[in-house]
Amino acid sequence: MGLIINVAGRLAGRSALLTRLAGRLVAHELRHLKGKPVERQLLVYDLPETQLALANDLRVVDTILSDRAGTFPKAAALERLLRPLVGGGVFGQPGGDAVKQARRVFLRALVRIPEQRVAAVAADLTRAYIAGWQRTGRPVPVPSELSRLTIDIVSEASLGARFTAGEGQRFVELFFEYHRRANPVLMLLGGQGPAAQQALVERMGLAAIGAEMRALIRRRFLAPLLADPSPSAPAPFAAALLEAAAAGLAPDTSLALDAARQTAMLDEIAVMLLAGHETTASVLSWLLWELSAAPHEQDAVARLIAASGAGRPDDRDGRIDPALARQLAALTQEALRLYPPIAFLLRETSEAVSFRERPVCAGGYIVVSPWTIQRHRALWSEPDRFHPARWLAAEPPAAMADRLALIPFGYGPRVCPGKRFAEIEMQAILRELLGSCRIARTRGRAPNPLGTLTSRPDYDFRLQITARGAT
Ligand code: HEM
Repeated sequence: MGLIINVAGRLAGRSALLTRLAGRLVAHELRHLKGKPVERQLLVYDLPETQLALANDLRVVDTILSDRAGTFPKAAALERLLRPLVGGGVFGQPGGDAVKQARRVFLRALVRIPEQRVAAVAADLTRAYIAGWQRTGRPVPVPSELSRLTIDIVSEASLGARFTAGEGQRFVELFFEYHRRANPVLMLLGGQGPAAQQALVERMGLAAIGAEMRALIRRRFLAPLLADPSPSAPAPFAAALLEAAAAGLAPDTSLALDAARQTAMLDEIAVMLLAGHETTASVLSWLLWELSAAPHEQDAVARLIAASGAGRPDDRDGRIDPALARQLAALTQEALRLYPPIAFLLRETSEAVSFRERPVCAGGYIVVSPWTIQRHRALWSEPDRFHPARWLAAEPPAAMADRLALIPFGYGPRVCPGKRFAEIEMQAILRELLGSCRIARTRGRAPNPLGTLTSRPDYDFRLQITARGAT
């Protein structure tokens, strides 16, 4: 592993071709991240120009993500990696007052979307996707179809609009390619300082992909909004963003947003679409992969769904039988534990610090990994096993004595603001899917978690999804 990292570090940034080669060398390491070395409470690693600390000690994690979050902003390398896509949007921003303000705007916009709307949009669209899959009768390419579905859900619920099928497909393809190329590990290895890292991002070839994705977002979502700022379709998130963008302008000029304000809106819409769909699609892809090998588990959930009367026409407000809610939560909780979509929370330290008496230099990278913590043998029994029933036991898993043992949505001031949205959405999708379909494996290798921007599956694996009544 050390040798691979050294070779990758030397190749990265030399040319576009060598950068891609280096990226391949370190792209698929997530599944190897197990066992003693990565379970150490604290691992400090010397990089060519700085240091990297991986913290599994939950008290240190608390310090980094919450107690002293101001000392440990998100790493600038991450912002550079995401900038071609989300510009100055909140997700990539390191920290400070600007982030507080951006989060406030984002959260205010998010809470305008009623929970019932999220549940109803997710249920309706899932039904439409299932009908489409069943028309073709062919195995379903699960990661890309779930990506298209979750983009549609997040855009319809928040912006009142959707990509056309062709645009959605293109968007998903482009984002998958972005993932392949945008490699945070290379950013840590391939030279420090803004100029070196910017050169590396250019060699990764992210600018053209990001520009095409942003053009799609601008055309489908931003341009119509600016042309008609009181859209007939309900678009609560968009309306709140418009208000924030127009803040400080006189009412009669509020529609003439200058280029900078338009770009700021585009950035936050891009964050909403990307952060709001990819994570959910990734975790649901893994969940369906696991369930495809567990027909009895599927049957048990389907029985509960049938007994709860879900799917009736009058059941559109997302109310849900408590036993079913617990069962669905156990599934998503276990998938989030085993496959946290954001496997690494990347920070840097703004001053020299010492953790567990190990010094880390100023500017050093600090990694908190939901992946290693949530599979840690000291915290979880049978940590690598997909075992939803652990969440249904009368006694909660021992690890849950500590809130920080399960952090798929992060923790502290940068915790995911979309948690509730995601939970409602996943519950609605699963209710439709597991209530009406059986899911089975087809031939093909098991997917591996990508381990770049997210832990999404490394290829578009296919599952047979058939109507329950049909067999
Ligand atoms: C299963 C689904 C999801 C998971 C596991 C997830 C996970 C995360 C994590 C771990 C972070 C924090 C990253 C860090 O601290 O470095 C984050 C941030 C964020 N998430 Fe989510 N997320 C999910 C769904 C969503 C949804 C549905 C939305 C929007 C509707 C959303 C919007 C955001 C935004 C805007 C941020 C950035 C916040 C900031 O920079 O301060 N996420 N998410």
